Amino acid sequence: MNRFYVTTPIYYVNDVPHIGHAYTTVSADAVARWHRLLGDETMFLTGTDEHGLKIQRAAEENGISPLEQADRTSQRFRDAWVELDISNDQFIRTTEPRHHVAVQELLARAKANGYIEKGSYAGHYCVSCEAYYTDSDLVDGNCPVHERPVEWLEEDNYFFKLSALEAELTEWLSNDTVVPEGKRNEALGIVKLGLDDVSMTRTSIDWGVPVPWDDDHVFYVWYDALINYATAVGFGSDEASFEQWWPEAHHVIGKDILRFHCVYWPAMLMAAGLKPPKKIFVHGFLLLGGKKLSKTGLTQIRPADLIADFGVDGYRYHFLRGVSFGPDSEFSYEGMVERYNSDLANTLGNLLSRVATVVNKKCGGVGPKPRVDSPLAAVAATSYAKAAEAWDNFQPSVALEATWQLVRETNVFLEQNEPWKMDEGSQEVADVLGDALEVLRITAVCASPALTRASQAIWEAIGMEGEVTDQRLPEAASWGAYPGGTTVPKAPPLFPRMKVEG
Ligand code: MSP
Repeated sequence: MNRFYVTTPIYYVNDVPHIGHAYTTVSADAVARWHRLLGDETMFLTGTDEHGLKIQRAAEENGISPLEQADRTSQRFRDAWVELDISNDQFIRTTEPRHHVAVQELLARAKANGYIEKGSYAGHYCVSCEAYYTDSDLVDGNCPVHERPVEWLEEDNYFFKLSALEAELTEWLSNDTVVPEGKRNEALGIVKLGLDDVSMTRTSIDWGVPVPWDDDHVFYVWYDALINYATAVGFGSDEASFEQWWPEAHHVIGKDILRFHCVYWPAMLMAAGLKPPKKIFVHGFLLLGGKKLSKTGLTQIRPADLIADFGVDGYRYHFLRGVSFGPDSEFSYEGMVERYNSDLANTLGNLLSRVATVVNKKCGGVGPKPRVDSPLAAVAATSYAKAAEAWDNFQPSVALEATWQLVRETNVFLEQNEPWKMDEGSQEVADVLGDALEVLRITAVCASPALTRASQAIWEAIGMEGEVTDQRLPEAASWGAYPGGTTVPKAPPLFPRMKVEG
């Protein structure tokens, strides 16, 4: 049996969940769901990043302790993920004791291997990034990411000898480890420019994981945070589990945290004598008016606001289909309405309601079997092959387009054949409707990573029993499995059309 381990970044608890965070999480969720359909033993991890100066300051501003700050906001992430039908197997918090044990163990190994040394450091620090910058990194004296002033910090701390791992990192990055290609080259470029050793502990704050060999220090939040991916599958607590899952680790991240994930993290693992992750998928930003959400002040667009208008399926479908995984993408409400109407209401919803209506009028409400030699069989096979490849390459948008291609062609097939004009009870009407029902069955399975609710509704509307998510690919997508003879009730409208406002 194959194993598949997929992670999202763990989210900072100074901010509440917005559609940018949800984009990463929904993408990872859909891919995890696809792997479950394939029968892979799947582990899907998300969680919250709870240490560091940023959180400590947010807590001070709110007049609460850092842990209270973390408790409250972490819960908001959990709630947001429930609202979006996120199927994570674990939710990790970096304040958990098991995580402290893992961080201390992994970094103690790196130190024992000679990759951590004491030194002193001074630099421009951006609290929002939780990162130091050199003079040349700054843009008009400001943080290059947040365009806000940085602070001058000087500390005695421990350094991670990143420079000693340049050759190993170059080698790791010369394989197919970071996707898309452009992002792999970006990471390679960072390594080729030459890596400085980096400061990895702090004495100026105490909200962090204590350094086991020096009581005055805590680990800098990024060095603690990245290790969550190892903690969750048993590093430091269950070696057998870690050994099973770790070789299958796939990380999904936004491009803002490429350097940490594609350079520092594999280097930390190498330093500790462990394998780097199997693959890292890097996506672009969702933008509003050309700016990253956190910089627009428009982070008040909550997933819940859009779910209220579009439903969970409409929400998930929009971001999975409408945002191609990799480049930046401008969010627009009007664009979301348009896609909902065209793909969900007019294409998929329309196919189901037409088929169910005609089955009730012409076949006594009992679904006929598909033809073995249906002209749609080849279309379905091509659609599945494309979708499977795209899901495998972490391209939900391409995968869903392939599935919708089949739905669109089936609508055309109905228009050409006009079963509503055929004789009631005739063989020809049974042939056309049986084929269309088979397409709906296959579509319910293949669309289920995106449409967590409508896929089950379609499954039941064509008279199938059980859970669509219990089906197994590729068998469930092969032509001819719709049994026929099942009752097809008049379908409820799945996706009522939305009006474009204004
Ligand atoms: N805590 C760190 C990650 C540590 S992982 C070991 C962090 N957290 S974050 O909450 O600021 O952002 C996490 C992720 O949210 C980003 O990498 C990205 O995947 C996602 N996004 C946040 N804003 C986004 C957009 N505007 N657009 C798309 N994704 C965005 O960084």
